[in-house]
Amino acid sequence: MKPIYRHAIVRKPARSMVHGLSATDMGTPNYERAMHQHAAYVKALQSCGLEVEVLEADEEHPDSCFVEDVALLTPSLAILTNPGAPTRKGETKKIMDVVAKYYDAVERINEPATIEAGDVMMVGSHFYIGISERTNLAGATQLIGILETHGMTGQTVMLDLFLHLKTGLAYLEHNNLLISGEFVDKPLFTSFNRIEVGEQESYAANCIWVNEKVLIPKGFSETKSKIKQLNYPIVELEMSEFQKLDGGLSCLSLRF
Ligand code: GLY
Repeated sequence: MKPIYRHAIVRKPARSMVHGLSATDMGTPNYERAMHQHAAYVKALQSCGLEVEVLEADEEHPDSCFVEDVALLTPSLAILTNPGAPTRKGETKKIMDVVAKYYDAVERINEPATIEAGDVMMVGSHFYIGISERTNLAGATQLIGILETHGMTGQTVMLDLFLHLKTGLAYLEHNNLLISGEFVDKPLFTSFNRIEVGEQESYAANCIWVNEKVLIPKGFSETKSKIKQLNYPIVELEMSEFQKLDGGLSCLSLRF
């Protein structure tokens, strides 16, 4: 069953984002431009019917606008994660009270387990969990245990190259899965209607489905036309400054 999202939580980019983590060399993000792009992102979520809580910037944590990583918000409970990147661990503490306003049931992932929720993809009540540089097996095991206690299920997916699972996968509901790079040949995903995103456009594999609209990054015409063929209304968003920090559309919000 497809979810109905009513809320989103986002955090404004910090000026310190220029010191954010990046495995690629696409240049230093421009703060003013990032703020502009972030404001457009918030508007896009609102246009999908979401009430958006916009948190103030957290200068202590350069990557803190990527709120998706610090919590997993399911229909029945919230799970605070423990980011694998040392510079991001403190972000969980800063989101705790915000999440608690919306959820009665809040659990958390504890050391030595690590999880960044960019590594978690929800498909109904089943969750795919990437084992990556940021999310370890202990994290996935803890998460699956919590999910099972609450009537949900999970399974792991090994990552070799991508930063996060959702760097290369986006579930668009209706069994439609955007898929890219190292995931294309994985038998695990063959039961989906797979929409392959080529290497040239692999950044566009991180899209988000929000109440039947699909938000996509601007400038990826091939992927756009493939999604259009599936009859989704599309909202295109400029993401250049977040891409410089390896951040995608999903990373910028918690949707629930
Ligand atoms: N720059 C986002 C991250 O590496 O977590």
